[in-house]
Amino acid sequence: MLSLTNKRILLGITGGIAAYKCAELTRLFTKAGAEVRVAMTRAATEFITPLTMQALSGNRVHLDLLDSEAEAAMGHIELARWADLVLIAPATADFIARMSQGQADDILTTLVLATAAPIAVAPAMNQAMWGDSGTQANVAALAQRNYHIFGPAEGEQACGDVGLGRMLEPDELANACAGLFTPGQLAGRKIVITGGPTREAIDPVRFISNHSSGKMAYALAAEAVQAGAQVVLVSGPVHLDTPEGVTRLDVESAAEMLQAAQHNVGDADVFIGVAAVADYRPELVAKEKIKKQADEMQLRLVRNPDIISEIAASGSGLLMVGFAAETENVVHNGREKLAKKNLDLLFANEATATFNSDHIEVTAISAEGEQALPAANKHLMARKMLELIAAKLKTRNT
Ligand code: CTP
Repeated sequence: MLSLTNKRILLGITGGIAAYKCAELTRLFTKAGAEVRVAMTRAATEFITPLTMQALSGNRVHLDLLDSEAEAAMGHIELARWADLVLIAPATADFIARMSQGQADDILTTLVLATAAPIAVAPAMNQAMWGDSGTQANVAALAQRNYHIFGPAEGEQACGDVGLGRMLEPDELANACAGLFTPGQLAGRKIVITGGPTREAIDPVRFISNHSSGKMAYALAAEAVQAGAQVVLVSGPVHLDTPEGVTRLDVESAAEMLQAAQHNVGDADVFIGVAAVADYRPELVAKEKIKKQADEMQLRLVRNPDIISEIAASGSGLLMVGFAAETENVVHNGREKLAKKNLDLLFANEATATFNSDHIEVTAISAEGEQALPAANKHLMARKMLELIAAKLKTRNT
């Protein structure tokens, strides 16, 4: 049974139709042993009354920064300190935007800034608003700050649309919150991840590379840390901040990436090859900038090492996880790569739709079969992928 014994949960409700589910959510929290205090934005009170939330939580609801009575009972800084967990549910697009900006213009944004407790966010909005690049950038900024993003789920929406944007159901949210207080599913594991593109020098000012943004690898690294793992991220050149708790090793070429990976897999449990490694490099790297002369020039390329295959072949006993970026026959080609590279698990995706996007849709392929993972933002997808990886590690050890 779900246990949240003596956990102090500050539930922040913002103005979305899903706010009515907070009554049931509070009931589940208290039933699981948690103490709940509620703060609401003004808009939230249009969807569920403070009186309902007061009756269910057994505590006065906080609505205003400048409410002297509520402040006298428990001031907002005291409330921020009191919480073991802050859950914003539902979190509207507007609230997510204000939170991502670090604003403090009402009780709830102020509490979010003032608390040292983990913060979880349950987005709920129209599917187009969720898919909008502005919202996605804001959610990514929160994930980067280690906020836990719960959902949204896919399905029918209050506005009649169908898609991603529904708030998770109260029992799913209560379970996800309880999960934050138990040791992560990858606690005690070391994971080495390669990510981003490689650069293969032609001369001192030119190189061959590709469009990989590194977002999937960075999302995996951040989420693996959240799941309790020790993470080494061997990264090609990307424009991304290092997620908190991740050891990042910057490399440029495939040769450097291979060397850094080999140095770090000795005591690792899992290797995840996400990097878009250049398959070829110029045979000769000119010492000086190549001057233009003839109308044509030829560049002779030689094969780069296949990093993931070399690590798999080294007999280290790691759980080997690869990716396959394909432009055609995605699953078929993915399965071939799984076998050829001697991998335990492979995520195959359509290449052109994925580079630099915040979303990804993949098929998980292993000896046991295939599983389609529907389109999701890369952080949510990373979590699903890590669940599959954790399950594989578990079956290995039993
Ligand atoms: N990979 C690697 N080293 C390489 C090439 C690929 O470690 N030199 C890894 C990738 O990180 C990924 C998997 O192998 O996990 C598949 O990468 P992909 O680029 O899809 O396949 P390639 O082996 O390069 O095959 P092709 O380009 O022919 O599709």
